[in-house]
Amino acid sequence: MQTIHSEGARRFSFNAGWRFQRGEAVGAQLPDFDDARWARVRLPHDWAIDGPFDRSLNPHTGALPVSGVGWYRSAFRIASHETQRYTRIEFDGAMSNSRVWINGYELGGRPYGYIGFGFDLTPYLMPAGQRNVLAVRLAPEKDSSRWYPGAGLYRNVWMINTGAVGVARWGTTITTPQVSAEAARVAVQTTLFNRRGAAAEVTLRATILDADGREVALAELPAIVNPAKDSTVATTLEVPHPRRWDIEDPHLYSLVTDVLQNGSVLDRTVTDFGIRTVAFDRDQGLLLNGRHLKFHGVCLHHDLGALGAAVNRRAIERQLQIMKAAGVNAIRTSHNPPAPELLDAADRLGLLVIDEAFDMWRTPKVPNGYSKYFDEWSERDLRDMVRRDRNHPSVVLWSIGNEVPEQGQADGWQVARRLAHIVREEDSTRPTTAAFDDVEGAIGNGLAAEVDIAGFNYKPTRYAAIRQSHPDWIIYGSETASCVSSRGTYHLPLEKYAKHPSLQISSYDIIAPPWAYCPDVEFAAQDDDPALLGEFVWTGFDYLGEPTPYFGRETDNSQDWPARSSYFGIVDLAGFPKDRYYLYQSVWTDRPMVHLLPHWNWEGHEAQNIPVMAYSNADEVELSLNGISLGRKRTRSEPVELPVGRNVSETLKFRSQYRLLWQVPYQAGSLQAVAFRGGVEVARDTIVTAGAPAQIRLATDRDTIAADADDLAFITVRIEDRDGHLCPQADNLVRFKVTGAGQVAAVDNGNPATVEAFHADFRKAFNGLALLIVRSSPGQPGEIHITAAAHGLVDGVLRIRSRVIKPQTRGSH
Ligand code: GAL
Repeated sequence: MQTIHSEGARRFSFNAGWRFQRGEAVGAQLPDFDDARWARVRLPHDWAIDGPFDRSLNPHTGALPVSGVGWYRSAFRIASHETQRYTRIEFDGAMSNSRVWINGYELGGRPYGYIGFGFDLTPYLMPAGQRNVLAVRLAPEKDSSRWYPGAGLYRNVWMINTGAVGVARWGTTITTPQVSAEAARVAVQTTLFNRRGAAAEVTLRATILDADGREVALAELPAIVNPAKDSTVATTLEVPHPRRWDIEDPHLYSLVTDVLQNGSVLDRTVTDFGIRTVAFDRDQGLLLNGRHLKFHGVCLHHDLGALGAAVNRRAIERQLQIMKAAGVNAIRTSHNPPAPELLDAADRLGLLVIDEAFDMWRTPKVPNGYSKYFDEWSERDLRDMVRRDRNHPSVVLWSIGNEVPEQGQADGWQVARRLAHIVREEDSTRPTTAAFDDVEGAIGNGLAAEVDIAGFNYKPTRYAAIRQSHPDWIIYGSETASCVSSRGTYHLPLEKYAKHPSLQISSYDIIAPPWAYCPDVEFAAQDDDPALLGEFVWTGFDYLGEPTPYFGRETDNSQDWPARSSYFGIVDLAGFPKDRYYLYQSVWTDRPMVHLLPHWNWEGHEAQNIPVMAYSNADEVELSLNGISLGRKRTRSEPVELPVGRNVSETLKFRSQYRLLWQVPYQAGSLQAVAFRGGVEVARDTIVTAGAPAQIRLATDRDTIAADADDLAFITVRIEDRDGHLCPQADNLVRFKVTGAGQVAAVDNGNPATVEAFHADFRKAFNGLALLIVRSSPGQPGEIHITAAAHGLVDGVLRIRSRVIKPQTRGSH
């Protein structure tokens, strides 16, 4: 049993010391229940990701056990010096239909798995030194989601320990009503609580620190806090010469709020914020700090691949870094409130965010979806999302829904009006939005007019007409492309959108479902109209579930198993970029690059034409095969005819200016693209015909990680020939040994159609690559030794280090 003492911290992690059981446990809410045989778990914990994959569990939710009952219990005692304190518990989210008890007393619960909730434990806690038991029952339902929701206490859990007078939950609201180069006015509203019997006279001190911890503004004001009702105090500070938060320079200030009485600090909170201006203009589009930008956005579902839904700070950060490197500047948290860590990372890395509340309102999309709870809970869930997230500079729009069926209903606008009104009550500084796929419906019934900015899913051919018929509207592509592919897979001849029997989809980036299209179509639409705010690609990462084109609506899906995760990502489930990642990079970034596809191992196709594509942001690209030039082509000049859409042999052709295409008679060797700007070489990419697999090479994303049992190293496992070339079709089974100060957290390879377990110390490569995720051991700094072995190949070896890193002092709490 753990002893809770906060060591002075106001908020501390309550992730350790939990026991877990899957299935019903009668009486498990009672303190004396015997849980000795339950599994010991550390949160965040997603019970479903352990599998096993099972087709009957519904491939649309990842074919993983995301429904059923699960129980968590934690026994703890409070240290004696903490007894005069007030203790709250906060769950950042629990999947789902939670009920929570303390010492047998039921505190409440929350149906929606993506929203945080918490309870005051103080009245129910046993005296210091005695045992308390917190019990949580979760009951996620079958068919409650259109993607993998995960299951369990999958987000962080916190204890909040305060005195009798202090800052209320979400009690700090920061806005920046005036920003110029000379000064920014920072308006701070603070809500204070008082648990004493009598009114408290306090001083509220607000201090703004810059990123280096230097004080840049200070205000002190007296406040009287009545015991019966929270009091709100408002003040405005001025920050001279503000360094603005921007995607290029995401500078964060912190507001330190002290509640003082007779010289002693009763409570202190720290809230990070940014000073920036965001404007959405009918003619100029999106302006960040006055500078025109387009959303180069991606939609992200919440799972973290092999780690499942279990929130991990580093895994989220890595996802966003990979996105940023493609030129992504915005994330849409499709289709639910994200983990707080995602917004923290977006603030820190410089990414804009559309924070989305719901995938459905009252009308269900799946039998047990959120609609069941909408009437009772939508107001509370939405208010809580905005209150939780409104200080994040990254958040620029609030989305009240995605493709809600109410688009097609005559009174759909009423729901939209209610939700938009709730958002505006909680935050008047950011516009509301929603994502529509039914243009006629949403416009016709007035629903689209209820949000400030309308998003359209998969409608690049309609933007112009919408803008013409509604010249006052500001619009953007809330979901775009939905191109499908498997990383590293190429089928010849080029194929149409269909279920390929291999369960892999060719990666020439021209295949998309009937409602969708290849990236180039959206680029052209966006380039045509600078006032369009930009786009959000479906999706940044592959995600568990929704394995379109497999397991569609047709009755016979017998050949589709085990397709169980999406093909939509510009990056695969393991985080390895697919080709079109570079297509986006070529349009969204300036740093010279060129990317070639496919691979160059076409044994048996000698002398046959192989379509070769190059994606580049340079002026010209020269292709050569075995040293012989196949010609130079200018980018953005000679449109390439692409067979796109449902059926490549049908009439759907698209002329793309965004890629270069050659037909190259196959001959083994070296295919090279050299990119030029102003006639000078600026980048090159070479693909070599690889020999037989001979060795394994390991590459880590970081050499040193924190020894906190939470930090991760992501290790790329490459199967190479003896000259170090990637073997593009290798599928060797690789076994891992991790010793020292770390252990295997999970493995993957990005294959969307496999039932191999994510929790294992072995993995087959998929098209030459696999991923090993290593977790540090708690409080055990030192070396971590990693060996990767496969039959007949030279081992890959790697050493990384873990060290004790002081817990982060920054971050809002
Ligand atoms: C959209 C939907 C997304 C996803 C996508 C696949 O209609 O909003 O959640 O299903 O289609 O293309």
